[in-house]
Amino acid sequence: GKYIQPETREVNGVLMTKIMSDNWDKIWNFQAKPDDLLIASYAKSGTTWTQEIVDMIQNDGDVQKCQRANTFDRHPFIEWTLPPPLNSGLDLASKMPSPRTLKTHLPAQLLPPSFWKENSKIIYVARNPKDCLVSYYHFSRMTKMMPDPGSWEEYIESFKTGKVLWGSWYNHVKGWWDAKDKHRILYLFYEDMKEDPKREIQKILKFLEKEMPEEVLNKILYHTSFDVMKQNPMANYTTLPTILMDQSISPFMRKGMPGDWKNYFTVAQNEEFDKDYQKKMAGSTLTFRTEI
Ligand code: PPS
Repeated sequence: GKYIQPETREVNGVLMTKIMSDNWDKIWNFQAKPDDLLIASYAKSGTTWTQEIVDMIQNDGDVQKCQRANTFDRHPFIEWTLPPPLNSGLDLASKMPSPRTLKTHLPAQLLPPSFWKENSKIIYVARNPKDCLVSYYHFSRMTKMMPDPGSWEEYIESFKTGKVLWGSWYNHVKGWWDAKDKHRILYLFYEDMKEDPKREIQKILKFLEKEMPEEVLNKILYHTSFDVMKQNPMANYTTLPTILMDQSISPFMRKGMPGDWKNYFTVAQNEEFDKDYQKKMAGSTLTFRTEI
């Protein structure tokens, strides 16, 4: 298949597709509302999983209601812009009645300022960089809406230097980590969710000021497990045509496991990566687990 959006542009030092950069003024001026809930993340960090958990909570564990539409139509992806007649995040969001749940991959410094001003609640989910890189590499091979990732060796370099869509992973996780001390942000980790999903769902419940009977909580746990979501056409992106995502190359619900990076990084690549990581993360209190 052909990459239909190979061109990229930097917006304030952060790489975006050309059409996103062309629409940047509109994105930056997005009008958030106080009762919006924003799910923010770097790409491939557990966004879709968090979206499904949140939707199940908001619908009191009603699976049918959560299958009313695709993930990407239930939760507008605010900066994601495509040529018409394809849906863009801003249009979807403006048509959606409140209270809305929205998605973004923007780094904190590029978040439309109305989110801060309106004090909307934000859930941020972060994933260790090695698994994130592996997931992003496979995703970039199969989605035709983003640039070609090149070879594995080339992609490691692009990731480390932040020359991928939405920019540097390092700046992203640190920027949001700092933001959480100033705003209503629940900062979650993919590895924690995998280790004890019940505990992490309870954190989300508390953040959303909701309570839930044990049996509904268990239903949410089941419905949002990797194996069940992989089979759910409203969560696994299989309703998209192959010209947009060719899941025969790599499925959207690929592995869903911490530690898969060990199957890709050579010993030398891993050592280089760690050295570079130490430099880029020096001075931050943020830490990641690369296995559980
Ligand atoms: S996106 O396109 O940026 O929104 O992708 P995102 O949803 O953030 O990340 C996709 C990865 O999350 C995995 N995933 C899950 N893991 C565990 N449990 C559940 N329920 C789950 N749902 C999605 C998905 O498989 C991608 O990771 P990899 O490592 O590629 O499998």
